[in-house]
Amino acid sequence: MARIIAGVTSSHVPAIGAAIDNKKTEEPYWKRVFSGFVKSKEWMADAKPDVVIAVYNDHASAFSVELIPTFALGCAAEFPPADEGWGPRPVPVVKGHPALASHIAQSVILDEFDLTIVNKMEVDHGLTVPLNLMFGSPTEWPCPVIPLAVNVVMYPPPTGHRCYMLGRAIRKAVQSYPEDLRVVIMGTGGMSHQISGPRAGLINSKFDKAYLDGLTKDPKKLIRIPHVEYMREAGAEGIEMVMWLVMRGALDDKVKEVYRFYTVPASNTAVGHIILENAERKIKSRRPASAKGRAARAKRAAPRAPSLPASGGGKGRGLVVRSQR
Ligand code: DHB
Ligand code: FE
Repeated sequence: MARIIAGVTSSHVPAIGAAIDNKKTEEPYWKRVFSGFVKSKEWMADAKPDVVIAVYNDHASAFSVELIPTFALGCAAEFPPADEGWGPRPVPVVKGHPALASHIAQSVILDEFDLTIVNKMEVDHGLTVPLNLMFGSPTEWPCPVIPLAVNVVMYPPPTGHRCYMLGRAIRKAVQSYPEDLRVVIMGTGGMSHQISGPRAGLINSKFDKAYLDGLTKDPKKLIRIPHVEYMREAGAEGIEMVMWLVMRGALDDKVKEVYRFYTVPASNTAVGHIILENAERKIKSRRPASAKGRAARAKRAAPRAPSLPASGGGKGRGLVVRSQR
């Protein structure tokens, strides 16, 4: 069974990508930003996910105003970097996971989330910058990445509640995939920022920090925040934060916050970054079974499945031995 082991949020500021590509990461301004991701890269190298699901938004690179899917899942085998005006970023082509992606599409659509299935797509800074922040700059990305593009560019974006429920549906989809895959889900964008208009440059650290707290401890409070409040408190582009709620919905209700970083500014943006781990699944019950209980269970199981092992994470179809909370 596949499972989501952790969730990561990270800003996706294009200037971070430009700093990497133009070798400016040691300049004091950028060093401050990148210093917050040193531990994250170590964590990621240690976590070694088999697949990453990256929830991000396209910034009119793959989709123009002619076509604006609310949720678009990348089911292709690969996703080349988009040309965002200065040529494509010199980063590796993102390799997808078509089998898991189509499984997620099927499960989520049958759960009544009308996703757009995308079989050809280029990916912009919204996806490639967070990959750099978490994986560094390798010649190949270390694992397949499934892009999930969310519209936060043209009104109306999805609500926080809808995003959270999509995360829940993705979690269910992942857990019903038979292969033993360890999946990390990333929510990108944010935090407070506004890049045009009279309030350009707006940053609201108080709102950001409360949002980070809520993300770990009380996401159900965050999912009720209306769009107008994101706009007012976190600026026009602060709405990108609803994408973090897809990530949070895909995790357990109770999670362990293993890392947090916040700095202001990076370009026009407050950088907020958090790593949340799901508790390890217990293969066996936490309570030691009594001899009587064991005997009763063995008797109940025997007529139906005499040859099944008592525990273990085998790949046999229909053999569910781990709890699916
Ligand atoms: C900036 C941040 C973004 O998330 C983005 O998509 C574009 C620009 C910025 O801070 O400049
Ligand atoms: Fe953005």
